[in-house]
Amino acid sequence: MPSRIEIKTAALTPKATGTLVIYVTEGAGPTGAGAAVWQATGLDFKTLAAAAGFKGKQGNAFEVLAPQGVSADRLLVLGSGKAGEGTSLAAWTDRGGSLAGKLMGAKATKAGVLLDEEAATPDRVAELAAGLKLRHYRFDQYKAKKEDNGDAGLTVTLHVADRAATDKAIADRDATASGTILARDLIHQPPNVLGTLEFAAEAEKLTALGVEVEQLDEKAMRKLGMNSLLGVAQGSARPPRLVIMRWNGGKSKDTPLAFVGKGVVFDSGGISIKPGLGMEDMKGDMGGAAAVTGLMHVLATRKAKVNAIGVIGLVENMPSGTAMRPGDILTAMSGTTIEIVNTDAEGRLVLADALWYTQDRFKPRFMINLATLTGAIGVALGNDHAGLFSNDDDLASKLTASGLATGEKLWRMPLGPAYDKLIESRFADIKNSGGRPAGSITAAQFLKRFVNDVPWAHLDIAAVALASPTTETNQSWASGFGVALLDRLVRDYFEAK
Ligand code: BES
Ligand code: MN
Ligand code: ZN
Repeated sequence: MPSRIEIKTAALTPKATGTLVIYVTEGAGPTGAGAAVWQATGLDFKTLAAAAGFKGKQGNAFEVLAPQGVSADRLLVLGSGKAGEGTSLAAWTDRGGSLAGKLMGAKATKAGVLLDEEAATPDRVAELAAGLKLRHYRFDQYKAKKEDNGDAGLTVTLHVADRAATDKAIADRDATASGTILARDLIHQPPNVLGTLEFAAEAEKLTALGVEVEQLDEKAMRKLGMNSLLGVAQGSARPPRLVIMRWNGGKSKDTPLAFVGKGVVFDSGGISIKPGLGMEDMKGDMGGAAAVTGLMHVLATRKAKVNAIGVIGLVENMPSGTAMRPGDILTAMSGTTIEIVNTDAEGRLVLADALWYTQDRFKPRFMINLATLTGAIGVALGNDHAGLFSNDDDLASKLTASGLATGEKLWRMPLGPAYDKLIESRFADIKNSGGRPAGSITAAQFLKRFVNDVPWAHLDIAAVALASPTTETNQSWASGFGVALLDRLVRDYFEAK
């Protein structure tokens, strides 16, 4: 969907604009270009700030309407907190989000922002721009009456000292924000519109960016022995697809990184059908696949110097006369037999074959899968952290650090042979659910059975990817969680400089 926000840069001399924004440090008055603007108004800053209860804390704001001597309808004064406070990149993304919230709340359509504080480096201003865009996003494709502010559009001009460097940083960071928004759009699409084939077609569009896209259909997967994934798909009228996306931005000898996503386009639970309340949320059960697709979009857009593979398993989990049953035994591509005890524990069945296939074919440097895998992860961690499970301490700590840097935070959970006991089956090698205790861990332990020596991490994003509590940078239902996190991981640790 076209974004209705436009972000530009300009020199530090603001021209006529709707809303002019200046930032003020806690306990201080306007400085630099902001001081010049303020002086033109002829107003006493201390008096106005005191009357507005403005101290300069982050989130503090007051406005002057139709200010004298300034060619703007409104002067919006925003607090930036104590000097030296909130210098992390994530804090600047939030600052951008908060600014968009203020502008949209005031139904502004045009704004200029003075960014000449010493702290406003190109990288940080790029975060602010990303925050503006991510906060402005909404999914209203199917609404006749769009929300007012979105329909009118918003143009923001960032007035900065070093335009060239800032433009470059913004373009680079914008690639990531666009990937996050692609993931959100895919997740929001209703399940009648975005089925397996439609999702695959969206992935095919990445070829325009130089991504190689391959699709395995049911016949090809049958031949490979992917009966675990196919078992989930067999109750649906929609055919399954395994989509393989390859971005070759590195040297040809470089071992690729691999990202694998759960793409259940709708999870009814199958024969073990879910209760009706909230079942509509299960259109988002492809959040892992959406994040992987969004990430591939980012890497290709910014021409990342890395080789990366994205693999997504696209299926629909439906009850029908052809659906798999509790009691069925499936043989996965690895040869492992799986007793189905609950057809609603389907994500792990999809990933079992997708993970095996990925490590077998690509021998990747590492393999990271993302999945809206268990409701239990929200019981354990709430909405503030996704669950991280890994067989590799180094990969786990890099992921954790990337989470802190982007605000897409992870919390490591245990794995261990003791949990294998809970998924032992009477009739097959393993069963697909261990029941309620340690529900997220047994799901991860199940996945581990399909991973060999390769460093691997599983991110359970069920409680952070959808039905997200609103934040400074997201007011929509789907967050796009994982795109910024994994792009940061690639940038910081795996990309040639
Ligand atoms: N897709 C669900 C998990 C989920 C729940 C995602 C809520 C997003 C929000 C998954 O396939 C599922 O149904 N898991 C079961 C596992 C159980 C049957 C062992 C669950 O969490 O109840
Ligand atoms: Mn399920
Ligand atoms: Zn599911």
